[in-house]
Amino acid sequence: MPGEGADRADIVFIGEAPGQNEDRLGRPFVGPAGIFLDELLALVGLSRPDVYIANVVKCRPPGNRDPLPDEIAACKPWLDGQLDLIRPKVVVTLGRFSLARFIPNGTIGKMHGKPQKIGDLVCFPMYHPAAALHQGSLRSTIMEDMRRLPDILKEYKGATEPGCRNDGGRQLALF
Ligand code: URA
Repeated sequence: MPGEGADRADIVFIGEAPGQNEDRLGRPFVGPAGIFLDELLALVGLSRPDVYIANVVKCRPPGNRDPLPDEIAACKPWLDGQLDLIRPKVVVTLGRFSLARFIPNGTIGKMHGKPQKIGDLVCFPMYHPAAALHQGSLRSTIMEDMRRLPDILKEYKGATEPGCRNDGGRQLALF
């Protein structure tokens, strides 16, 4: 399950791996965590077609276990290829596995909500939306972090509005 969204998105969200629903439907974040992600996007005036949503691991780990290092390594060329093609300005990492792709020793508890400049792009670490489903107190933290996103994009891109760089409705088909 590669992901979906705008092929020239300024913002790419990267989750962990598809779950059962995503695997079945071939779309990212279609379960309960996805409903919260949609709410988060709406909070800053965005919707799915404005951004790209991908995962570190492209296949569902059995039983929803954490992805293994060799699975992450096997999927890395695909994620790298997606980022090379889309060339986003801001990558929002959702959860620790996604954060580790950009900041290997970063801890989500310390780094969430703090943008990190990495080469040409900015990594904006956030908790995984599913974390709020398990730990309700994180919900407001995640929402607070999300509210910073438009300013981060403006600061690093000089953009006036978050969104994609005009794709004429084209959607990315990588696979
Ligand atoms: N969780 C993720 O990390 N990715 C998805 O696509 C769905 C749930």
